[in-house]
Amino acid sequence: MIELNKIYYSECVEFMKEIKDNFFDLTVTSPPYDNLRDYKGYRFEIEKIAKELFRVTKKGGIVIWVVGDKIKNGDRTLTSFTHALRFQEIGFNVHDVMIYKKKNTPFMRSNAYTNCYEFMFVFSKGKPNTFNPLLIKTRRNGKEKLVANKKADGINNKVWGTLKEEKTRINIWEYAVGLGGTTNDKIAFKHPAVFPEKLAEDHILSWTNEGDIVFDPMCGSGTTCKMAKINNRKFIGVDISEEYYKIAQERVQMVNIQLRLSIE
Ligand SMILES: C[S@@+](CC[C@H](N)C(=O)[O-])C[C@H]1O[C@@H](n2cnc3c(N)ncnc32)[C@H](O)[C@@H]1O
Repeated sequence: MIELNKIYYSECVEFMKEIKDNFFDLTVTSPPYDNLRDYKGYRFEIEKIAKELFRVTKKGGIVIWVVGDKIKNGDRTLTSFTHALRFQEIGFNVHDVMIYKKKNTPFMRSNAYTNCYEFMFVFSKGKPNTFNPLLIKTRRNGKEKLVANKKADGINNKVWGTLKEEKTRINIWEYAVGLGGTTNDKIAFKHPAVFPEKLAEDHILSWTNEGDIVFDPMCGSGTTCKMAKINNRKFIGVDISEEYYKIAQERVQMVNIQLRLSIE
């Protein structure tokens, strides 16, 4: 019997077979692309994962797929694109292709520009149910004289108008990485490929409301689940590695202590 608000030690396709159709509002996950790192017990079948994810995602639900490419003998694998095409073939809409820009530790190459990003594919099962756009402050705002219309005589007509204080963010999101950037949880760095807490949180706030169910089928150190819990969403996390599953469990449990300390 699968319960909410728990981390599970399992292969994710096998795990999803136990989940009923149209269950999750949002998935935020990052696959182990291109054997880039040693994930201990690695098993990854994109077709099967995409199909099961489609089945268990609610109509109008979203899957955020964070992925980059490896460079083999000077050739970019384009695994990212291959994954996106698979998701589209099995029925997801490619609602957006966003960029996760890393503020520091970019990957340097001697004969190409320094790579500093990964893709964040936003796959939707039909029209998204929820979009709570994150806003940023505008540089020019408040009352200002604006050009209203240009008459036939070529003279600009200026009138007082009010420029907006805030606008919707663009689809390139930048985050600092490493300790203090990605997270302050030292234990998370026992995992080799943690994504920033803020990245998970920004997607959770954008695509879900309180009480919705968030999933990470390859949860690694548990970042998505931790941020779902902090933001009053329900969650399920799964990892194929026992070591990472334990780290994720511990991180999610630490949230209670961190929340208590922030209140005191
Ligand atoms: C890029 S890491 C995820 C990191 C995570 N986003 C975080 O912030 O810590 C990918 C994870 O997928 C897990 N994994 C690989 N294949 C899997 C599978 N078939 N089922 C479940 N987990 C799998 C690996 O053990 C690894 O922890």
